[in-house]
Amino acid sequence: MFHERTGDELVMGADGYATVGVADLWHKHIVHSGDIFRETEGGLYDRMDAWVQDCHLGSGSRVIDICCGQGVTSQRASKRGAYVLGVDVSEPLINIARGKYRENPNLSFQIGDAANLYWISDGFYQAGMMINGIFHIGPESMPKAVSELSRVTKGGVLITGVNPDCYEDFAAVFTNQTRCKVETQTPGQESTEIVIGDPEIAGPNGTRIILKNTPFVMHPEKNLYTAFENSGLELVREETYGNLTLVGGPDRDLFVEYRLEHIK
Ligand SMILES: C[S@@+](CC[C@H](N)C(=O)[O-])C[C@H]1O[C@@H](n2cnc3c(N)ncnc32)[C@H](O)[C@@H]1O
Repeated sequence: MFHERTGDELVMGADGYATVGVADLWHKHIVHSGDIFRETEGGLYDRMDAWVQDCHLGSGSRVIDICCGQGVTSQRASKRGAYVLGVDVSEPLINIARGKYRENPNLSFQIGDAANLYWISDGFYQAGMMINGIFHIGPESMPKAVSELSRVTKGGVLITGVNPDCYEDFAAVFTNQTRCKVETQTPGQESTEIVIGDPEIAGPNGTRIILKNTPFVMHPEKNLYTAFENSGLELVREETYGNLTLVGGPDRDLFVEYRLEHIK
């Protein structure tokens, strides 16, 4: 029964991104919607560019992009000349990324699970990022994913996600939703609410796109902070962005950026 499954099992069952149809729709959103939270001044792309610049990720640097989707975030991070490996659990999204960027020698893409990067040696990458992926990862896997990101990098880490103050605003775009609160075996972790449903997001020319069977994991902020600390990462900047007034909503920032450094 639904409530007898672990949080990770619930999330694994909501594998929208791993299906060809949803992967194609997500790609359409990225390429054609002009996503206001990404593209406006101070939005996601500006933040990524600033991080790449501040971490000096130019030619000769190696960056890993976990939860890379169809590759746009990897491509963005490679703009100053860094080599970027994008990793995503979704085979159809990795296939789109490989096709789209096949002529870019600075980009490679690999199917893989954020919580298990056993095939990458410690500190192989100078920097790592996880852009809007953490809230799709189950509560048991989330600390492992942060720990793996820490293990395979030696420099800066950038994680972006939904601002915990706006979890309900974000959840509101999920139609046909089922909710479940789960406990984990991880010591000190607070219970986590998971929403599974069909988020409706921007499509081309003002149309809407529905991403079926997608999980939204509302990690309590305390669980994120604990995962950072237990992974040897220090939070050096936390900033919210993406004001909901941009889409006619209340004066709250929908997204958050966490910049982290390895504790010396
Ligand atoms: C909202 S998309 C973000 C994609 C990309 N970073 C971007 O911002 O355009 C979230 C991605 O996380 C991926 N994902 C979810 N769980 C994952 C896991 N355990 N390991 C690797 N990727 C995962 C999904 O397949 C999806 O591509």
